[in-house]
Amino acid sequence: MKDEDTARMPYQLPFPKDAQEEIVIPNAVSEDERLWVPQAENVWFRPLCLNRSQGYWMNLLKVRKAGVLSRHRHPQPVHGFVLKGRWHYLEHDWVAEEGGYVYEPPGETHTLVVPDDVEEMITYFQVNGVMCYVDPWGEVQGYEDVFTKIDLCRKHFQEVGLGEDYVDQFIR
Ligand SMILES: [Fe+2]
Repeated sequence: MKDEDTARMPYQLPFPKDAQEEIVIPNAVSEDERLWVPQAENVWFRPLCLNRSQGYWMNLLKVRKAGVLSRHRHPQPVHGFVLKGRWHYLEHDWVAEEGGYVYEPPGETHTLVVPDDVEEMITYFQVNGVMCYVDPWGEVQGYEDVFTKIDLCRKHFQEVGLGEDYVDQFIR
């Protein structure tokens, strides 16, 4: 068979039988407030992939004016892409702006704040492992992982009438 005959031919074999299903979310940055899970005052997240088998989560973080994502340490890396607005960490002098990408290496401890002149920021984050909430001297006050995220989603989706099973579509 010549190359031009197969260039647009779909893969002909079945996918591995143990492979998980893909997740496809149209309009991920939704206007539907029910899809945004409250996390703190003026802070919400929208789950996209809650990967319990590898211990990470992909989510959109939304912070409105005066919201703060409280101080936490990451033992594992974080990747972020700013979709809207602008924010910074109290611990760094750079500013994450719309269209920008950030890599946060393991060992980071930071506090995310949105400046007063920004109504709302939305950032796509991949968070791996765990976030440990700490006091200014590093004493652990609490944590979040993919399982606490799933629990928060279940509780919220139940409360807004979507049902706690609504989260299942995002879990892999
Ligand atoms: Fe963080």
